[in-house]
This record gives sequence, C-alpha cells and structure tokens, in this order.
Amino acid sequence: MFSSLTIRGLSLKPARFCAPLAEITHSAFRRLLTDFGGCGAHFTEMLSGRKLLKEDLQRSPYSRRAPAEKRLFYQLMLRPDDPVDQIIDRLATVGPDAIDLNLACYAPVIRRLDACSQLFENLPSLIRVLRATRRAWPGPLTVKIRLGSAAAGNEARFVERLRAIEDSGVDAITLHTRFFEDKFKRRSRHELFAWATAQTRLPIIANGDILGEGTLTEHPAHFQSVAGIMIGRMAVARPWLFAAWNQQPVTIDHAEIWRRLHGYIAADFPENIALRRIRLFTKYYARNFHFGHTLDMAIQNAPSLEAMHARAGDFFATPQALFREPCLQGL
Ligand SMILES: Cc1cc2nc3c(=O)[nH]c(=O)nc-3n(C[C@H](O)[C@H](O)[C@H](O)COP(=O)(O)O)c2cc1C
Repeated sequence: MFSSLTIRGLSLKPARFCAPLAEITHSAFRRLLTDFGGCGAHFTEMLSGRKLLKEDLQRSPYSRRAPAEKRLFYQLMLRPDDPVDQIIDRLATVGPDAIDLNLACYAPVIRRLDACSQLFENLPSLIRVLRATRRAWPGPLTVKIRLGSAAAGNEARFVERLRAIEDSGVDAITLHTRFFEDKFKRRSRHELFAWATAQTRLPIIANGDILGEGTLTEHPAHFQSVAGIMIGRMAVARPWLFAAWNQQPVTIDHAEIWRRLHGYIAADFPENIALRRIRLFTKYYARNFHFGHTLDMAIQNAPSLEAMHARAGDFFATPQALFREPCLQGL
C-alpha cells in the first residue's frame, strides 16, 4: 500500500510520510523517526520564509537535518511580498530534498500575515507566490492544502485553486480533507479524495485522521486514487508507526523511547524551550497508556529536565496498560 512515489525525479519509498507539525517535527523528533525508519519523507514544521533569512540554518533545530535523515521536505510559510529568491537561495544551503508551501494553516495570527489559508483564498497573490517559488526553486515543489473555506461555492473555488497550483508548476499536493472552519472538530472527509483527485493531474497525498493501515483497509475506495498518505498526530503518539507498517522488526520499549526523545530534545534546544517541546510531545505520547494522564500531568508540572526524567522514571517503573489504539481526541 503506497510503496513509492516519484516527484520531479525524487523517489520516495514508501509513499507514507510524517506530517509537518509545529513545535513537534523539529530535529530531535525527526531523529527519533529516523532511528525507527520506514517513513518515506519527513517534513520540517512550518518555517517562516523571512525568519530563515536570519537563522543559522545549519544549527537551528528547525532546519538542521541529521546525516542519516534521508528525505526532508522543508515547509515554508510565505507572504505575498516576501523576497522569495533570497529565501530559497538561503534554504538551498541546507540542501532540501523538496520545498512544501503551507496553504492550510488557519491560525488567526498567520492569516493576519496574508499567509497559508489566507494566501490560498487570495488567488492573485497565491499565483504570484507559487510562480516566484517555482522560478527560484528547480527541485520538487509541493503544497499542503485543505478544502478551502466552507462558504457557498467551495467546490468551484477549490478547483480554481487546483488549476492555479498545476499551472504554476507545483509537483504534488497534500490534501487534508477538512474545510478551514472545521479546524479539528469534524472528522476528515476521506470520501472526498476520489472527487479531488479527479479534478487534477497532480498526485494527491491524503492527510487527516489517518491512524494507520486500518484506516485504509476500512474504506479502501476512499484512498484508491491517492498517491500517498501523510500521518501527523498518530505518528507523534507512535513514532514507530511507519517502521511497523513497513514490516520491519521494531522493538517498542515505551520508557526507553520517551527517555531517548527527552535526551535528543535536551541536546538540541536550550532548557526553557526543551521543557515546552517535551511537554507537548508527552501530551500525545501519554495517550498510549490507560493511566497516561498521570504521566502527562507529572511532565506538564515538572520544573526542569531532570525533574521530568525522574517523574517519567516513576511512571514507567510500574508496568503500564496500553490502549490498542490511542485516542487523539482533543489534540
Ligand atoms: C500541533 C500541530 C501542529 C501542526 N503544525 C503544522 C504545520 O506546521 N504545518 C502544516 O502544514 N500543518 C500543521 N499541522 C497540521 C498537520 O500537518 C495535519 O495536517 C493534521 O494534523 C491532520 O493530520 P493528522 O490527523 O494525521 O494529525 C499541525 C497540526 C497539529 C495538531
């Protein structure tokens, strides 16, 4: 199932990807994913194009890649008046395998910048930014979108934007089948993948509420026409998910995995940011355990990296009952 996908000569095997997740898919988490393997490509979290001009890209935990990390898409947030040539020139110094534009984020602070979902809605600006990016970047270029705004006429608007994306030379599209206004409240509308793929010649990567192989086998018709799949939140709860799907031998020692990521984050971030990143990861990871809320609470309140380590040690010292599949509701 989705064993490979080639985008502008870039071979991705398997065509199963870890989604960009702000404050989660940093260098430390991607290193953990790399340890497990089985994921066809990683995505950075959304990076502000303008901020990239000032960052030390080789050192920053947002842009740095581990030598063993095979395929890395850099996801950008671009604004209509951004100096796209300069941004891409600078990004090229870290050797991205591909560039992805975020056209999906609906956060008010981002919309006020005319970026992401706001850029998706503003067709002339969207075309300008896509074309400028295509001119500056000769490699694989993808976009990540939702269904757009749910207001009347949404199908026609969506198709109009697909045309603009195709005509601007984009190579593939990741589609999260929710409207902007849905946020995460409604389920992702997987039944719309068949319709969406019929509207474009570009490969579509399916995203939204894909929990693992079971989601695909439950409704195979929904995913028949897509070229690949992308998983976000469940890959945080289960970083071994891609390796297990790949039928690689995987050892899952929950305590060791938590400790390893704690160590990776502590190595990559200053302590005050490391604490926040570990807290966020633990919210997802704790969903594996029947009594995960005790782990989550202990970590949210821990004042230091050492305290976190000790508290996780106390939790894992007792054998923990596991859910067959973590519930991600509310995350
Ligand atoms: C905490 C969090 C951070 C996210 N950050 C990003 C981001 O930086 N860029 C992006 O395109 N999508 C982002 N998303 C959306 C995810 O990439 C994905 O589209 C969404 O979670 C649906 O997939 P899932 O159901 O497999 O999690 C984020 C989602 C969450 C929950």
